[in-house]
Order: sequence, then C-alpha cells, then structure tokens
Amino acid sequence: MKKLLFVFGTRPEAIKMAPLIHACATRKDLFDVKVCLTGQHREMLQQVMAFFEIEADYNIDLMRPNQTLYDITANALKGIEGVLNETQPDLVLVQGDTTTAFAGALSAFYKRVKVAHIEAGLRSHNKYAPYPEEANRKMAAVLTDLHFAPTPAAAENLLNEGIKENVFVTGNTVIDALLWGVKKVRDDKKYAESFGYLDVEKKIILVTGHRRENFGQPFENICNALAELSDKYPAVQIVYPVHLNPNVQEVVNRKLSGRENIFLVAPLEYPNLIWLMDKCYFVITDSGGIQEEAPSLGKPVLVMREVTERMEGVEAGTAMLVGTDTDKIITEATRLLEDEIAYRQMSQAVNPYGTGNTAQEIVSLLSKHV
Ligand code: UD1
Ligand code: UDP
Repeated sequence: MKKLLFVFGTRPEAIKMAPLIHACATRKDLFDVKVCLTGQHREMLQQVMAFFEIEADYNIDLMRPNQTLYDITANALKGIEGVLNETQPDLVLVQGDTTTAFAGALSAFYKRVKVAHIEAGLRSHNKYAPYPEEANRKMAAVLTDLHFAPTPAAAENLLNEGIKENVFVTGNTVIDALLWGVKKVRDDKKYAESFGYLDVEKKIILVTGHRRENFGQPFENICNALAELSDKYPAVQIVYPVHLNPNVQEVVNRKLSGRENIFLVAPLEYPNLIWLMDKCYFVITDSGGIQEEAPSLGKPVLVMREVTERMEGVEAGTAMLVGTDTDKIITEATRLLEDEIAYRQMSQAVNPYGTGNTAQEIVSLLSKHV
C-alpha cells in the first residue's frame, strides 16, 4: 500500500486533480489517498471541491486578499512541511504551474519524497509569459520524479531540457473532468435556469481573464475591446465571470459595468461554466484550462496572450493568439461574428489534449512506478 499525498490550492488544479483523486481512491488495494490544500484560493477552490465531492484532509488556508508571490511561496512551503511530517507519504502529486505546484514539489524534495507532476512539460519559452507560471513549471520539473505530460509536444519539451527518464504521455485530466461534467449538465434544466438572464437563441461570447502579466494597461485594452464590441453588436451577449483578484475586479467593474449586453458575474461554479461554454458562440480568454476545454466542445478561442504553451489548439485551428491589443481583439471577434466560413473553420471539435481516460492511464503508471 503506497501513501499518496495530493497537494493543490487553486481552482484549475482542483478541477484537473479531481478525476485522478477519485481514480486513485477507488484503488484501495494499491493506494492510501490524502488531500492537502494550500488554500491559495478560497471560494473559487471550495466551489470545485463541493461539485466533485472531494474532502480535504489538510488545509493550510493561506489565501489573503491581494496576496504576493512571496506570501504564497513562503506560507505554502512551510505549511506543507508540517503535513509531510504528519503523513510521511511515498509520493507527492502536484499539478500544473501554480505557485502551489512549485512549492509542493520543493517541500517534497526537501524531505526526499518522490514527486509526480501532472500536466508536465508545457512551455512558452518566455520566462515572463505566463508570469510566474513558466518558471514555476520549469522549477517543478527539476524536482519531479514522474512526469505526466499531456501531449507528445510537452514530452518533447522535457526531453529537450535533458529530462529523459520517467516521462509519460498521458493526455490531460482536464478532458476527463470536462467530458464527465458536460454529460451531466448538458440537458439538465437547472443550469439553463441559472442563466435565466440570457437569451440562448442569440450569440453569446464567454470571456475570462486573470493573468498577472496582463494587469495594468493590457487589462485596460481588453476592456476597451469588449466595450467597443458591446456597442457594435447590441444583440450579442458578452458573459464575463470576473476572477476575484482585486487587480482584475477593479478595472473590469470600472470599465464595463452598467452595459445592457455585458453580464459581469461572479466566478461560475464549474458545471455552470461548462454549460455556458457548451452554449456559447465563441470564447475570449487568457485562461490555460479554457484553452484546453473549448476545442473539445468545438468552440473557437481567441487567446489574449502574446505566446501560449498550448500550441496544440492553435495548430488544430480552433485557437488563435490575439494578444491584448484592442484593435486585434475587435478585428478577430468581428470576423468570427460576421464571417460564417471563418467561424466554421475554427469551430471544428478537436481533442488534442486528451480523450477522457487520462486519470486511468496515470493510475496504471503509478501502480508500476511508485
Ligand atoms: C492563480 C495562479 C495562476 C492560475 C490561477 C487560476 C499563481 C501565482 N497564480 O492566479 O497560475 O492560473 O490561480 O485561477 O500560482 N481570490 C479570492 N478568492 C479566491 C481566489 C482568489 O478572493 O477564491 C483573490 C484574493 O484576493 C487573492 C487574489 O485573488 O489574493 C489572487 O489569487 P492568486 O492565487 O495569488 O492569483 P490568481 O490570479 O488567482
Ligand atoms: N472555470 C470555472 N468557473 C469560472 C471560470 C473558469 O469553473 O468562472 C474553470 C474552467 O472551466 C477551467 C478552469 O476553471 O477548467 C480554468 O481556471 P482559470 O482560468 O482560473 O485558471 P488557468 O487554467 O488559467 O490556470
């Protein structure tokens, strides 16, 4: 029996860890599963824990309003030390590129505990974009023993950094969660009712944004583009679940509130979000996870970043990098709204990030390698 400790702290990590936690927990013959939250997120994390019915064994509860990277790193590192002392795991599992993921890997390494990295090998090759995530995932890779890369390109990135052992291509658990979730919500009236303010016969654009490198002028530009689109297309509905980060809230509320066809709403619970993504016309986002989900649902994505580590969607033709230039965002959104052929070319359903069996694949690898 091997002791597994899952360490995570933010909304996307919870969504992507959930299928794997359940898959490991059902193998009681192989694994003793414990869950440690850093609490880097609070409300946004608890929403996901409730939907996926996951209970935390430990919660470091570190979130503070407008926290700094120093706060998160220091408090997570120290908090996880205590949990490691108590649980003495055989393996710590971390996911993705958050500061929690890096601190989790570092804490485990300091105790010479093995580390598994879920969603390993993503690279933009630009240290400041996304910031600090590109550095977080590279530092986590150095400390990792088992690398679960979602795609062949991600595995290739690791090989190019000299990481040649225990690199496995598994797909991304984000698709396990999505396919399971969409089946549950698609025809359930309660989700349609929760969006009673929308006319689903009309076009809907789903928007999200939260990246640290977009704070300041880039966010002003993004909001200018959305305001102009709302004036130009009064019949189009823009739904923007606004991230709780005060740096995002301030600019979005200041620039976009009070418009009839822009709906600024609180972060949506995951099933509501995927219901909306399934119903929307296209997505404008800087999110990593949404770049992975939208292609599976055949939704074009305009990515508000200069570079992305998720080139598979761009190469498949469903995602396009538009950066944070106001005119570029307006031009590409206009094209999708007005040019049917361009829209159809971008709305093919493709699955470059997995087919929904990644968690089972990783369980099988863990049973051989831990
Ligand atoms: C973090 C991750 C980012 C990931 C994102 C997912 C880092 C450095 N950043 O960014 O990689 O893409 O999560 O959403 O790891 N807040 C709340 N309640 C919540 C969550 C956040 O009030 O449930 C507010 C707090 O004021 C908090 C702030 O948002 O201080 C920022 O949270 P933080 O985790 O530092 O940054 P994110 O932008 O959420
Ligand atoms: N998501 C959600 N509610 C929202 C916005 C996003 O449940 O209001 C989900 C989304 O489906 C995806 C994940 O959160 O699975 C992405 O999280 P986020 O964009 O915060 O982080 P990133 O993926 O960029 O790290």
